[in-house]
Parts: sequence; structure tokens; C-alpha cells
Amino acid sequence: MLLKELSEAFGPPGQEDEVRDLIREKIAPHVDRIWTDTMGNLYAEKKGRDAAGPRIMLAAHMDEVALMITRIDREGFLHFKSLGGIDQRVLIAKPVVIGRQRVPGVIGAKAVHLLEPEERERALSLRELFIDIGARDKEEAEKLVAIGEGAVFQSRFSSIGGNRVRGKALDNRAGCSALVELLQYDYPVNLTAVFTVQEEVGLRGARIASYNLKPDLALVMETTTAGDVPEAKSHQMSTRLGKGPALTIMDRTLIAAPDLLKALEETAQRLDKPYQWKQTATGGTDGGAIHLTGAGIPTAVVAIPCRYLHSPASVIDLADYQHLIELIHGFLTHAPGRRTGQK
Ligand code: CO
Repeated sequence: MLLKELSEAFGPPGQEDEVRDLIREKIAPHVDRIWTDTMGNLYAEKKGRDAAGPRIMLAAHMDEVALMITRIDREGFLHFKSLGGIDQRVLIAKPVVIGRQRVPGVIGAKAVHLLEPEERERALSLRELFIDIGARDKEEAEKLVAIGEGAVFQSRFSSIGGNRVRGKALDNRAGCSALVELLQYDYPVNLTAVFTVQEEVGLRGARIASYNLKPDLALVMETTTAGDVPEAKSHQMSTRLGKGPALTIMDRTLIAAPDLLKALEETAQRLDKPYQWKQTATGGTDGGAIHLTGAGIPTAVVAIPCRYLHSPASVIDLADYQHLIELIHGFLTHAPGRRTGQK
């Protein structure tokens, strides 16, 4: 399964090579042209039946939240900073893999009985955590890992429940996987898919990708927080699993283009497919960078609800994944040919 392969691939921000190679191999038979840029964004162009039709950018980020090794101490422990927003509460005792050699390790911390009372009351900060790769000293550790290399959770993808899956990096390998699947079909419009880099550290790859392409409009395919868990109040439930792909009206980085949102909503209604509105205005996506490019690019975000985002075991519902593909397929097949006001 493509989503499994993508979830298990190694892709810290700035070190997306393995994900990029995997995607390139999968899409090559289905697109007209593939290229990359200086930052490592992967572009795939697919010409539409109407050469003069609108040019649409579809974006999904390849990177995942990770840790970057910043120091190796005398005893051979690795110290790190975060690449993207990681909740430090999820880190302790988690298995990780590091760098080019995919060295296995575990995130360690001082044992609980050695903690001061006030330390027990709070989550340990990143500074108090380290990675243990089993090295006896600094010299042994340096043979395996270099400063600047990334570490990601080591986590097997698997199915849980009836139609749900669990794995690391579903943010945003689920979006990448859906975009790869969408590229297998032909459309009337001119498409350029961009698998972007460095989203988790500030929407960086998307910024130059949209500058390079200057599309007529852009759709971002993402995962977004599902808040439908015990103890959450209903207004905190940003999205809910199994209720369809989520459309964003506004988040921290973007107010979606109203015409584009309307077209997406109409597409869902026409196809009789479920969709939901993202209920909180938190978080940001590549859309934040894309819509401010040049003289502005109408942009919208469609996202798969995901529980435990940025953890070793995120959960999505495959029905939401499938409905996202169907929604965007339906949109690309019909809506964009129409210009605003010419319905
Ligand atoms: Co994301």
C-alpha cells in the first residue's frame, strides 16, 4: 500500500530525499514532465486537454516533524533541537532512526525516581532529553551519526479498527499519497503537482514553488487536527474522523479564496460526498505561503482529519482519505473550467 510506504519513509525537513525518490518513481509513468528545484521540491506537470485552460497547482508537503542532532556528548549521547512543532510529552522512550545510516536509537531522559518533585509536575523540555544509540562514547557515536542529521520516529504503519490506519508522518504523507493517486487520471485543466519540502519549519518549499509556477489557482492537500477525543469540548473539535475531508475557511496563515471554497463545496454536493468545515482557526499550511506569492494566488486547503498529529501513531479514517481524492478529482474534472461570474 502506497500510504504505508510513504508513512514509513524517512523525511525530516530538508532531508526529504527518500520520500521524493519514492514519489518520483510512482508518478513517472503518469505525468508529462518531472523536475526539482534548488530546495528539493518535486514538480510534476500534467498537460490538460485544453492548453489555454487555467493552470492549477496542487501541493502536498513531503517533510515530517523531526529532531535535528546538534551535539554529541562525551558519553556518546546525542542532543537535539526540534524540526517543526513537536509536543515534548510524546518523546520520552520513543524509538527513533537517525540520519543517512538510519541508525536506531531511543529518546532517553533521567529516570523518574531521580526527578525533583517540581520536575515530576511538568513535561521535560527538549534540553533535558537525549537520544541513546547504544554508543559507548563520543568516538563510537560519531562513526554512526553526524551533527545536522535528522531523527524521526521509528513506527510501523498498520490498520486499526474497521477502516482506520495508524502510523507516523500521516501529516502529510496522506496528502502526498492522495496526490500521487490523483495524478493517475487525466483532466481538462493543466496541472502541476508539487511535493514540497520544509513545510513543518515554516512553509518554506511552497514559497519558492509557487513563485516558480505562478499558477492561476492552488489547492493544498493536507492533514489537519481531529479533536474528537475524550475530554475535548465540542468547540475544540476542529474536525472529526470519518466525517469527510475538511475545508478551511481560515487558519493562522490563510483566509481561503471564497470562490474556490464555493466551487469545492458545490463539487462535494454535486457528487453527494461528505465534507466538513474546519472548526478552529489554528494551524497553518503551505497555503499561507502560496496565496501571498506574486500578485496573489487564489488558494484553498482540503485536509484529512488526523488524530495525534505529529506523533509516532497518528490515526486517520481511510474513508476521509478516499473522499478527499474523489472531491479533488471531481473539482478538477468540472469546476475550474468555469471562470468566476460565467456560470
Ligand atoms: Co502538515
